[in-house]
Amino acid sequence: MGYPGGSVRVQSPPSGPAAARPLTARGIVRRFGDLAVLDGVDLDVAPHETVALVGPSGCGKSTLLEMVCGLQAPDAGTLDAAPAALMPQRDLLLPWLDARDNVALPLRLAGSGRREARAAADALLDRVELGRFARSRPDELSGGMRQRVSFLRALATERELLCLDEPFGALDAITREELRHWLAERLEERPRSVLLVTHDVEEAALLGDRVIVLGPRPAGVVARISVDAGPARRREATDPAVVDARRRIHDALRTAMRGDEVAAT
Ligand SMILES: Nc1ncnc2c1ncn2[C@@H]1O[C@H](COP(=O)(O)OP(=O)(O)OP(=O)(O)O)[C@@H](O)[C@H]1O
Ligand SMILES: [Mg+2]
Repeated sequence: MGYPGGSVRVQSPPSGPAAARPLTARGIVRRFGDLAVLDGVDLDVAPHETVALVGPSGCGKSTLLEMVCGLQAPDAGTLDAAPAALMPQRDLLLPWLDARDNVALPLRLAGSGRREARAAADALLDRVELGRFARSRPDELSGGMRQRVSFLRALATERELLCLDEPFGALDAITREELRHWLAERLEERPRSVLLVTHDVEEAALLGDRVIVLGPRPAGVVARISVDAGPARRREATDPAVVDARRRIHDALRTAMRGDEVAAT
């Protein structure tokens, strides 16, 4: 069936024995007609690394994630990606399926039998204490729970690379914080390689091992920031390394936006 997946290889040479990096992208360009969106983006994700991607609205973050997941192709550049699972920006749970069948969906699409897929989904839901909501439909769940189910659906694919597009978008501040801890726990119990889009500078500093800052359209990378603050699960917003990373991300964004204003006048 048509579930997108497999390795995306665009204009790149064969990657030799077991590509070491889940993601290597070089000079990625993307346009929609006359609209130049991405203009030569270089991006890497190392095994078990969380890379946060921040940038102004409309600069092409979701577009970049879709390319990494093989849902669209760059107009130029090379992209070498391990099989990736996408948690899309808007929660796209199917309203007529319960939580269990939503989580089981990618397994069904990959050819698993119903019973096997449901058992795997139940195991995932149980492990994070959502088992009692297995038979609830999305409209019976809170926003935070829907995001958790949506995340588990991406996990169910067992793909090497997780692409999370604003996984905490549209949630209140307390639920965001809870979900951020929850995500950090999930990644600690089973490390993955993660590309995380967020517009929240603090969230990027709390979850990212590295933060890539994109400028306004046509977007290129304006800063690459390492966050030397230890494991995400134990970080606090007040940790000096988190505060420092936050400031650097903020400065990079502000400088990039100011450049944009100057260019527009
Ligand atoms: N299929 C498409 N056809 C035409 N334009 C598109 C298409 N997809 C995206 N765009 C445009 O490309 C630009 C980048 O879109 P994208 O959704 O990647 O931005 P984003 O950085 O994720 O924004 P946001 O922070 O608001 O989610 C936007 O101007 C958008 O309108
Ligand atoms: Mg987006």
